[in-house]
Amino acid sequence: MQSKGSSVRFTGMVIRSPISTLMLSMFATFASLYVAGRLWQDAENRVYLAKELDRITGLGKTVMSVDDSWKIIECREQRKKLSGLEMELAAARQEGFVSKHLSEINRTPKRRPLVVVGIFTGFGRKSNRDAIRKAWMGIGATLKKMEEEKGIIIRFVIGRSSNRGDSMDRSIDGENKQTNDIFILENHVEAPEELPNKTKLFFAHAAEKWVADYYAKVNDDVYVNVDALTNVLTAHLEKPRVYIGCMKSGEVFSERGQKWYEPDWWKFGDGKTYFRHASGEMFVISQALAKFISINRSILRVYAHDDVSAGSWFIGLDVKHVDERKFCCSAWSSGALCSGV
Ligand SMILES: *[C@@H]1O[C@H](CO)[C@@H](O)[C@H](O)[C@H]1NC(C)=O
Ligand SMILES: *[C@@H]1O[C@H](CO)[C@@H](O)[C@H](O)[C@H]1NC(C)=O
Repeated sequence: MQSKGSSVRFTGMVIRSPISTLMLSMFATFASLYVAGRLWQDAENRVYLAKELDRITGLGKTVMSVDDSWKIIECREQRKKLSGLEMELAAARQEGFVSKHLSEINRTPKRRPLVVVGIFTGFGRKSNRDAIRKAWMGIGATLKKMEEEKGIIIRFVIGRSSNRGDSMDRSIDGENKQTNDIFILENHVEAPEELPNKTKLFFAHAAEKWVADYYAKVNDDVYVNVDALTNVLTAHLEKPRVYIGCMKSGEVFSERGQKWYEPDWWKFGDGKTYFRHASGEMFVISQALAKFISINRSILRVYAHDDVSAGSWFIGLDVKHVDERKFCCSAWSSGALCSGV
């Protein structure tokens, strides 16, 4: 009895005059147009904020600025609504409310990358590159994802052959066509004694090509734990000029003919050890320092070693030297974020 009665009432509600049905559907259309318009404005911002939240909270960062915590609280609230918004945005797109063109020009600017990692390589070292691609760098979509989601840009760094355009240059070009992960320094000629100049050029060109928080130099026989690197770097973000590495001094070779002969040995105190500088297997500088190198490259001199040269550029500046033992990549150091092979 009761169920029958309610079904009668229900039917009575549905059968209405065609005019009110028309008005109702017009109203619904306008309402959804308005909502969809608002949604596509906001949703992309929120997707970005939530990703940022993942990036910040996923780091296991111990020191967090007030600004960060505020952002996180806000992001948490935003994220609750996020999945719903994303669905509605997708629906709005499907209905044609968001034109491709509009969503393109309204794309929110992404946060700048955290670090550009330059892996110094040379001709005839493809097996090292392939090992690194497999072990920690990734290829194709994985490399892209690392860039977009973690803000970590990784490239091999190489100059040109002294016989420009020869088979060595062509083989690098061919490899890069496939992997798209080589940063070629067109003005640099590959040679062991030119390594300090290569380091200078890498930082200068990387700072011009990418605006990132940090720039790292790594050798092509070093394996890096990218998440651990991210953790260390995020902890120093608030320092304006920072130079992070496994700090050492190292012997000065003052006899001509020695492998690491230092023509300027007499400048270094008693001529026996260098000033403190980060070991060259892997070190990181912040953006201001990379810019400094880029602007002042013509008056920055180089010494026999690339790591000593970099150290010399910063020793006279107001730079925070961070002696981070995790950057001591030698196989025997435990807790390191990198290891040599
Ligand atoms: C490094 O670059 C400078 C300036 O371009 C050049 O004079 C020098 O010969 C290069 N090589 C070394 C080993 O200093
Ligand atoms: C060196 O770089 C700094 C920016 O980091 C700039 O202000 C300064 O003018 C540069 N010096 C020279 C001599 O180019």
